[in-house]
Amino acid sequence: MRTNILHIGAGELTYEIRNIVNVGNKLQSLGLQVNWENIGDPVAKGEIIPSWMKEIVADAVYEDETYGYSPTKGVLETRQFIAAETNAMGGVQIDPEDIIFFNGLGDAISKIFGFLKRTARVIVPTPSYTTHSSAEAAHAGDRPVTYILDPNHNWYPDLEDIENHVKFNPAVAGILIINPDNPTGAVYPEQILRDIVEIAAKNDLFIICDEVYQNMVYNGTKSVPLATVIGDKVPAISMRGVSKEMPWPGSRCGWIEVFNGHRDPMFEKYIDSILNAKMLEVCSTTLPQIVLPRIINHPEYQDYLEERIRRYERFSNIAYDILKDVKGILVNRTNGAFYMSAAFESGLLTDKQTLPIKNDDVRTTVEAMVAAPDISPDKRFVYYLLGATGVCVVPLSSFATSLQGFRITLLERDETEFINIFETIAAAIEQYITSA
Ligand SMILES: Cc1ncc(COP(=O)(O)O)c(C=O)c1O
Repeated sequence: MRTNILHIGAGELTYEIRNIVNVGNKLQSLGLQVNWENIGDPVAKGEIIPSWMKEIVADAVYEDETYGYSPTKGVLETRQFIAAETNAMGGVQIDPEDIIFFNGLGDAISKIFGFLKRTARVIVPTPSYTTHSSAEAAHAGDRPVTYILDPNHNWYPDLEDIENHVKFNPAVAGILIINPDNPTGAVYPEQILRDIVEIAAKNDLFIICDEVYQNMVYNGTKSVPLATVIGDKVPAISMRGVSKEMPWPGSRCGWIEVFNGHRDPMFEKYIDSILNAKMLEVCSTTLPQIVLPRIINHPEYQDYLEERIRRYERFSNIAYDILKDVKGILVNRTNGAFYMSAAFESGLLTDKQTLPIKNDDVRTTVEAMVAAPDISPDKRFVYYLLGATGVCVVPLSSFATSLQGFRITLLERDETEFINIFETIAAAIEQYITSA
């Protein structure tokens, strides 16, 4: 190219959750049977969408308005429905104009960070759901600014770390919270959320809170929506969607709720810039917005969701019970969403450890992949695990963290298969770390 066409943040856009699929597909084509435990799509893992839900969608297909554009912010009746639900929590009060729909939260995330001034930073958790950390880093053309989720304390945010970053880095303008969290499955206690709001209030920051898993908590844990703790001073954005809960990730439908938007003129302008960006695209997908209230109001919806949550609870505890005593890794019981992260003890992984791989083609391919420069120790483990057992997980280091480990989903529906997968991983870890 006669002139450099690369955006300053081009190198920051990595998404290992999808990259690992390419590796899995390659090994599958060589004869490996793969168990896909890497991607958070309940439908891909065999979730049966109930007939009553399909009927609602099918009926909507016969309504011509579902084929049209919707208002830029989204279908008014749906925004009225969501605003009423949020207001019924008794915390911050919003109206439909405070809600903007997007083509999935992925779209919302890219606009929220894309329209932030390049030098203004949002501090993100480490480990972090990469769509956030990569989009934030790409907007700045620099490494993400991160605060620690502490694996020795249930993966809760390290408040002192947040405070120190805020104190010593004047570029920090906002704090990102993901609650319940991906990739850790942690659900934060009310006090931690209140403390983060307090830090934001004291330092004139805004908050972004990804609450896409808000209604998916278990093990007796209480979900504490940001709306109930934000108060009336700190400007904030809550992000929600239908991908996980309904579950309908293919609908590409998510939305933001803006809290205390009028409290700060600069924040208000920032939200306007996000809305204007959406306006250039006209609007987001119409059909899922139209059916959203019908599905949530359906008499069977709560039972359906409850049944799934009970399954995640049960499987989360099975997974924890299998992995908790495995030497060399640290895991926490998960209380929400459908992911579990395991971290290896520091320095435990080497570049000599291996697992036996029977299929010659698979083995030579794995050996070639792990010989590439800059392969992180956990990626090496993940590739060997995949090649030797067929279990596909995501290296933890791809979630904007220097911790070495892996993230696995709890979405496998067959209990015997689920137990088998986790016992296989437990045995593979022991074999791998003692292999050299
Ligand atoms: C925390 C979190 N936010 C957002 C998303 C993406 O949601 P959407 O399908 O609405 O783009 C995911 C998907 O895994 C997620 O885990």
